[in-house]
Amino acid sequence: MIFDKKYEIVENRFISGITWLLKIKAPELKDAPAGSFVMIRPTQDYLYDPMMRRAFAIADIQEDKILIFYDIYGKGTAAITEKKAGEEISILAPLGKNFFPEHHNYYILVGGGIGFAGLSLFMKKLKQQGKPFKAIYGVRRKEQLSMLDWIRENGFEDDVIIYTEDGSYGEKGLVTRDLKEMIRENPDTALAVCGPKGMMRAVMEVAKETDTPAYLSLESKMACGFGICIGCVVKDKEHDSYIRVCYEGPVFDGHKIEF
Ligand SMILES: Cc1cc2nc3c(=O)[nH]c(=O)nc-3n(C[C@H](O)[C@H](O)[C@H](O)COP(=O)(O)OP(=O)(O)OC[C@H]3O[C@@H](n4cnc5c(N)ncnc54)[C@H](O)[C@@H]3O)c2cc1C
Ligand code: FES
Repeated sequence: MIFDKKYEIVENRFISGITWLLKIKAPELKDAPAGSFVMIRPTQDYLYDPMMRRAFAIADIQEDKILIFYDIYGKGTAAITEKKAGEEISILAPLGKNFFPEHHNYYILVGGGIGFAGLSLFMKKLKQQGKPFKAIYGVRRKEQLSMLDWIRENGFEDDVIIYTEDGSYGEKGLVTRDLKEMIRENPDTALAVCGPKGMMRAVMEVAKETDTPAYLSLESKMACGFGICIGCVVKDKEHDSYIRVCYEGPVFDGHKIEF
């Protein structure tokens, strides 16, 4: 069931770099699937600029609260930073139909920048299920590690390998630096990936070379978020057709789509 409601903001604060954390009391969303997303109206109902809702991954669920980590990107996200604890926010959720499959024996999660927020709830689920995994979290520089505190607070320090491009924290280099070797050590691996397109393409190169299943959580410009505007499509190579990221996704088999 999809809810179109106003929920109370519990917290909305700056974290680091350009990232903010939004915590919302939303009891109806406490069982939202890992990988699902919300569409948030950045302004009050009586304001129409910006008009369209904006899409965000549900990064975590803590009892009756959902957590969203968001980067200030443009007008909509800047407007969301103005919202205060105690105010209400209009949300359409949970959205998406296809998420990371859970039948694989070993997972490597690869998150780039704010894309890590698209994997964090899945990582939590894998841990709860006792499934083996390793996560890679890559950013350009230390200040962009906006989910570091969340990783520590939730006890994932030993599960996540951090890469910074400038070497200011963790391993120096790109998320793909050791990926082939990690896959070789665990031949039964499936990749779960979320991040900038360039990063996802680089990960797909490794996935193709090593013949590894790879599931990509895609971002696309979204106007409606539930399948009617056809604004978010990507090419389905297998069927030579187009599919909607918001409705048939947001997670797709990376070997079968063009993005
Ligand atoms: C399924 C999904 C999950 C997402 N999860 C997160 C998240 O957890 N944290 C986060 O920081 N960002 C996330 N994004 C990206 C986020 O939706 C955009 O950064 C945001 O919509 C930008 O809005 P804006 O008004 O600030 O920018 P503007 O440039 O003013 O937005 C203009 C329009 O373009 C669209 N748009 C612009 N950039 C993007 C983009 N990168 N992806 C999709 N639409 C875009 C907006 O939706 C809007 O309709 C997600 C996107 C999708 C599709
Ligand atoms: S955002 Fe409208 S169809 Fe996907």
